[in-house]
Amino acid sequence: MARARSVYRCTECGHEHPKWVGRCESCAAWNAVAEEPVVVRAAVKSGRHALAGGGRASPAAIPSRLREIATSPLERWRTGLPEFDFVLGGGIVPGSMILIGGEPGIGKSTLLLQAAARLETAGRTVLYASGEESPDQLRLRADRLAEDAGAVHVLGETRLEAILAAAAAVTADIVVIDSIQTVYTDTLESAPGNVGQVRECSGQLMRFAKESGTAVVVVGHVTKGGGIAGPKTLEHIVDTVLYFEGEVALDYRLLRTTKNRFGSVDELGVFSMTENGLVAVPNPSAVFLAARADGISGSAVTALMEGTRPVLVEVQALAAKSGYGTPQRVATGIDPKRLAVLLAVLERRAETSFAALDVFVQVTAGVRLTEPGADLAVAAALISSLYNRPAPADVIFLGEIGLGGEIRPSGAIERRIAEAARLGFRRVFGSSRSSSQIAGVSIVGVDHVEQLVRTLAA
Ligand code: TYD
Ligand code: MG
Repeated sequence: MARARSVYRCTECGHEHPKWVGRCESCAAWNAVAEEPVVVRAAVKSGRHALAGGGRASPAAIPSRLREIATSPLERWRTGLPEFDFVLGGGIVPGSMILIGGEPGIGKSTLLLQAAARLETAGRTVLYASGEESPDQLRLRADRLAEDAGAVHVLGETRLEAILAAAAAVTADIVVIDSIQTVYTDTLESAPGNVGQVRECSGQLMRFAKESGTAVVVVGHVTKGGGIAGPKTLEHIVDTVLYFEGEVALDYRLLRTTKNRFGSVDELGVFSMTENGLVAVPNPSAVFLAARADGISGSAVTALMEGTRPVLVEVQALAAKSGYGTPQRVATGIDPKRLAVLLAVLERRAETSFAALDVFVQVTAGVRLTEPGADLAVAAALISSLYNRPAPADVIFLGEIGLGGEIRPSGAIERRIAEAARLGFRRVFGSSRSSSQIAGVSIVGVDHVEQLVRTLAA
């Protein structure tokens, strides 16, 4: 078969080049030019003439009214891994395409092989196409798992056309592509992993999913910048994007939805990596707080909203005398800029001084604080460490801190407090404008950082 002609298009501005170039001739962006196939549509006359000429105008597609479109409840295939099903919104939707991103070694292949094993046990046909590992290696991995993955169809293949043919041959319900960076299509000349290849293969997989009703799950490696390689293009194409994260050295793995056409986003699923694969953690708050020791300064608990679910985490801070000229600020799990803001607010508005101290802040279990509602807990941990006074053990901290030092209420307060109550917390330090309807938990109004310092340092 003659190879289709390709063009080289800039992924930033869309300018077409006849040959590959390192820098776009139009917008001067580096490394943005990617190969794509030229689709030659057979004898389509363009514009008005095609219609006016009568004869061979293509039949018009007929639109329907929204109310005439039949709705059927969305079918979902449960993987049987509760936390995985939870972040997906209840299970894998037939005909959908799911992307799982994450750093190497985080557990993507393990998770998918476990899910594949359970889906096969539940009567679904799963094709696991692996370009990263040979079928022998997959077999070794499978032997370690608690699940019996014996029935899963495996294929050590990286040519997309061959994978799709195999999927059709076994009438797969679900196709796993591990990983998208290793597959290539015959329609392009460039190497696997190249932006053009990643994009074209994803596009073909999406069409395959929609046309055949097969669910497609692709693994994507995360680049140093944190995005899934083959830039944002991949995320735009697929229906659902999950990120698998966590410190590789820690046992906990966090699976997070950043896009979901069939469920809510920002949902968090928690797993622990064991000798027999990943095990869902049904009660993340309890696990995240399990290692917390009472009576230690520099520790504060807060309740984060992770999607629809509240999760309690511990923030730890250590302020220690600096041995060097410029004191260090080391933040793990919190944006260093946010830490700088909070330190400045504490200095100016509450007359505390961290100027000669090294400051270390971390969040337990590899969780990242992204919402401002966690500010108060960070400030409380800092103050507690500075004065070497432990925060009361039955208190959680909820609130956002403004530049004036004022403390504002956080959203979804009832659900956060309910989760705190479940784990035995009795008091909430937060804005006096928030109220608690939950029995057994009271709000201790704290409206300014100065008041927080007075309360904690007392
Ligand atoms: P893997 O799934 O290969 O990661 P990815 O596909 O994201 O690159 O994860 C491999 C890591 O998990 C590796 O360090 C070994 C470890 N592991 C376990 O601890 N227990 C197990 O049962 C398995 C299969 C792997
Ligand atoms: Mg892998």
